[in-house]
Amino acid sequence: MNCDYIAFEGIDGSGKSSIIEQLSKILDDNNTENKIVREPGGTKVGEGIRELLLSHDYVVDPLTEALLFCAQRSQLVNELIKPCIQNGTKILSDRSAYSSVAYQGVGRKLGYEKIYQLNDIAVGGFWPEKVVLLDIDPFVSLDRQKVADRIGSDKIEFFQNIREGYLRLSEEFSKSFLVLDAENSLEDNLIRICNWLGIDKVK
Ligand code: TYD
Repeated sequence: MNCDYIAFEGIDGSGKSSIIEQLSKILDDNNTENKIVREPGGTKVGEGIRELLLSHDYVVDPLTEALLFCAQRSQLVNELIKPCIQNGTKILSDRSAYSSVAYQGVGRKLGYEKIYQLNDIAVGGFWPEKVVLLDIDPFVSLDRQKVADRIGSDKIEFFQNIREGYLRLSEEFSKSFLVLDAENSLEDNLIRICNWLGIDKVK
């Protein structure tokens, strides 16, 4: 695989987790060291912040929300992601700073550019090299969701705006984004991802 840090993005219920698990197994079969990380979370500090962000017990102001996402991300990049990559381990990240641009920047209307810049500071310019975007109509994806967290239980217009935010990102960063239809079969999408990343799909 010709990159070290790949993120998986999409609105709630787009099916990121199953794709990441399958891809990790394929990399294992190819003897490629890899680690799955999730955002928000991934470190002890980050998991604490995750609880503040996603629990239904708190009312979180949009800017506070954006800053908390940045805080857990800064911790994750410095404590885990960079050291792993330095040791030769590929990172498969369930969400990344691009989630914040789409969710907080566009979904919460804090501003696409502003939230991009805020995150650039939080990660010290260390963004994922490649991004797989699982694009889907929110009416379909929200139906697939089992239990919704605080952010995932917002109204449909919120997710429609987030989807637009993601599509804008995929156009702006077209060289690093692969946009897939999340309604394709898992197997089909895995083949596309492997081809794009230059991974042999060993059985
Ligand atoms: P996640 O655990 O990936 O949930 P799901 O599997 O349902 O996608 O993400 C938790 C929620 O946090 C999800 O609603 C998306 C939201 N989120 C943001 O709003 N901004 C961010 O920067 C990140 C990483 C997640």
